[in-house]
This record gives sequence, C-alpha cells and structure tokens, in this order.
Amino acid sequence: MDLTAFVNDHRKRYVDELVEFLKIPSISSRTENRGDVARAAEFLRAEMVRLGMAAQVFPTEGHPVVYGEWLGAGPDKPTVLVYGHYDVQPVDPLELWQSPPFEPEIRDGDLYARGAVDDKGQVWLHLKAFEAWREAGGPPVNVKMIFEGEEEVGSASLGPFLEKERERLGADAVVVSDSPMLGKGIPSICYGLRGLAYLQVDVEGPGVDLHSGSFGGAVNNPANALCHIIARLKDERGKVRVPGFYANVRRLTPRERREVRRLPFDRAEWLASAGSPPREWGEPGFHVLERIWARPTLEVNGIWGGYQGEGAKTIIPSKAGAKISMRLVPDQTPDEIERKFTAYVRKIAPKDVKVTIRHLHGGSAFLCPTDAPEFQATERALERAFGRRPVLIREGGSIPFTATIQAALGVPVILMGFGLPDENSHAPNERLHLDNYQRGILAAVYLYEELAKPKAATAAKAAPKARRRAARTARGPSRKSARLPKRKAATRHR
Ligand code: BES
Ligand code: MN
Ligand code: MN
Repeated sequence: MDLTAFVNDHRKRYVDELVEFLKIPSISSRTENRGDVARAAEFLRAEMVRLGMAAQVFPTEGHPVVYGEWLGAGPDKPTVLVYGHYDVQPVDPLELWQSPPFEPEIRDGDLYARGAVDDKGQVWLHLKAFEAWREAGGPPVNVKMIFEGEEEVGSASLGPFLEKERERLGADAVVVSDSPMLGKGIPSICYGLRGLAYLQVDVEGPGVDLHSGSFGGAVNNPANALCHIIARLKDERGKVRVPGFYANVRRLTPRERREVRRLPFDRAEWLASAGSPPREWGEPGFHVLERIWARPTLEVNGIWGGYQGEGAKTIIPSKAGAKISMRLVPDQTPDEIERKFTAYVRKIAPKDVKVTIRHLHGGSAFLCPTDAPEFQATERALERAFGRRPVLIREGGSIPFTATIQAALGVPVILMGFGLPDENSHAPNERLHLDNYQRGILAAVYLYEELAKPKAATAAKAAPKARRRAARTARGPSRKSARLPKRKAATRHR
C-alpha cells in the first residue's frame, strides 16, 4: 500500500476530525473546564481504541493521563513512545479573537482555534500517522502514546504517574511534537529546551490599606518595597543579579555558536513576530537566538498591589505581589536556582515588610543527544516529508516532561515539531498551518519506517555514550520526579 497516497487522499477528513477535537475547551487551569478536560481525554482514548490500541484514561490527582499502546510489531522490533498534551491555555482576552477560540475556522490555509498548534493539532497528527500504518497492516515498530492534560499548568501529576507506570512506558525513543519550526518551509528538530523555576513573591505591610497622608513617610509601603526588590533582580541589559545564578550555566560550544549564526534567521521578521518592539534587547555579546535558547533569564510575569481603579486614590496598600519565573539552561537546576533566588530576595528585602516566597512549579532544561540513531532517523523522516534537510534548533520554552522521561528511560527524546513561530500559541488567534499538519502526518508515517531500519554502524557505536550523557544532563524536574531511580541504557525495553 502507498502510504503517502493514502495520507494525501485523506487530507480533508484529518482536518474535520481535528476540528471536532478542538471544539472541546480543555483549559487545564480553570476549574469550570474540568469536565471538558476529561472529555478531551476520553475523545483521545476513543480514537486510540478505534485504531486498535489498548488505551486507558488514568485518573490522577489533577487531570487524567491518556495512555495507549500497540505492540503488534513484536518484541524484536523497536518501540516508540509518543508524548503530547491535550490541555490548552485560557483564551483571554477574548475580544481579540477574530473567530471564537472553540469554534475552529479555516482562513487562508490556517486553522484558527485555541490548541490548534499547542498541542492538540500536533497530538492528532500522530494518531493519523498510526491510522495510516494500520490501514497498511500495522507499523513496523511498536507504538506507545502518552498524552497529559496538565502540561500548561506544570505537569504535577506526571511525575507520580511515571514512577508508578515506568515499566509500561519502556521504549527505545520518545517523540514529542510540541515545538515550532525555525520558519515556514524549514523542517526543524529541536534538541534543547529551557527549564523553569516559577515563584510568587508576596509582600505584606500594614494590616489594612492606610490613608497615605496620615501614614505616608512613617510606615513602609509594600508596593514600593516590592519594586525595590524587583529593581535589584536584573540589570538594565538583562543580566540577572542573583548571586551564583550563572554558576552552572553551560555555554554553547564554539560549534553550536557557529551553527546558530548560520541558520536562516530573519531579524526583521523576528522583531515583527514580537509585535515590533522598538529594538532588540538583551545581554551583550549574544545572538538573539542564543539569548532565547541558551541563556537563562528572569521575568516578572505579573505584578499587583494598591489602587488600580479609575482616577486617583491616596492610600498605602496593605499588600503587593508578583509572579516571577526564571528560564533555566543546562546545568542549572530548579531547586538550586530557587534557593539562590530566595536567599537573595531575603537579603535585599526591606526589613519592615513581610516577604513570602512560594514555589509554583519548575522543571529542568532539556538537551537531546543529536548523534543518537533515532535522531538521525527523525532527520531522514523530516527530509522525506518536507523535501529538505531539517535544521537543528533549540527553543526557549519548556516541556518539563522531556527531561524527566529522558532521564527515567535513558533513551533519546526527539522534538519533531510542526508549529510556526508566529502561530500565536498562548495568545489570541492561535492557528495551525494546515500544510504543516499534513506534512507532519507524513513525517510521523516515515518516522516509523526509519526507526525500523537497522541502525547505522557508526551511529550505533556513538549511541550508548550519548545516551548516558543525555541522562546526566537532562535531570528530572525538581522535587517529585528528581527521586526517580535512573534506568540504565542497558536495560532498555526491547
Ligand atoms: N509547547 C510549549 C513549550 C514550547 C514553547 C516549546 C515554545 C518550544 C517553544 C508548552 O506547551 C508550554 O507552553 N510550556 C510552558 C511550560 C509549563 C511548565 C507551563 C512554557 O514554556 O511556558
Ligand atoms: Mn505545548
Ligand atoms: Mn503551551
């Protein structure tokens, strides 16, 4: 059977099905959408069962994990584990959407809906690739798929799930489609992601809001105190001033730096995709891409306190606060960075206010061994689907599970993403370029075939070392999953 022709013949149905999946408002952060998140999980399970996989919805303390497998290729064939997430971000500000976020609409070759690119479209394409192979009798590799409903809120339930179900998840490689390509028409494999340490800082002063005339100048103001703290976190060029923050930062290799500069990267286009700020900004001496991909950063994500209503109100607010996150790179760890941040903030905080620092979530940075044979198989699959050799990129976003699962299974995690940098993930008018969706299905179809091929002799020799390195560099996210015992590459599932 000609799989390419089969996939090309079913283009319209693939879109229609994705539209139905996208109609489910699976927003993981909102309690009122809990039922919808569960419905999206069930939607996936039903499709997996229809395709002949043994699939289950596993309840967790948070949102469910959907897991399915088809082991029909046999125990002597490699196994691939596909990971993705079916939860989506909230939709506000709603008034900026040109069509409602959960009423998918196609305009000019793009499908507009919340979750179109992040990540429901990229989850569904893997199911469609599996379906095509099933039509042809069955894929040449064993296939496992795990989809979570909490990625957008920190993946808290996945660590415990992995600890309990690790045997089940054994595979020779993990494939994730949840990252963008460098640009339109440029197939890309993402071999690195930043990690994250996310904290909330609360500052409390007087027990109630005070008249700023009666008390101003004689008690400290929590909003001013918070600004005092925040102003000392970073210098004007973007260098983080937390002592020891850069101690474990691994620099790009000279070769990586050269490669970054050789990528077909368009600065003007990039500035436009950032909403055209007046100019580039950041640490001196680093390329834009290096700043985003390989340098850690600290951002205030939200800040509040005091009077925000119409006109003026003369008060000293009783409280103020901020959400602050730090993007991490190898070999920083979320625990270490949280400790350093907390110690520094305690030291610089004015003593006449109460400062509380709370951990919200975190995850380690991720790096994948690019010399693994499975990585090379992915390069070949993408080249076949896009007619062009993929470029190797890193990304600045985070997918905490990538480092966790790579360390737990001791096998490469490969990020074969089909998004575009300007597809508005997390923002109004999120969309998915349907050509990339279709090519994504083809790439996943080819990937099964490429993974089934015997490994090249040189690559096979390099692999064990690369695997060990990967397991070492990509430590599991903080807390829960850091406790996972590491499975040695030698005991890999086969
Ligand atoms: N798909 C993104 C991760 C991503 C973003 C990869 C950009 C590559 C480039 C994922 O859904 C996401 O949004 N992750 C969160 C992390 C999470 C812990 C909230 C992120 O990066 O903010
Ligand atoms: Mn995502
Ligand atoms: Mn996301």
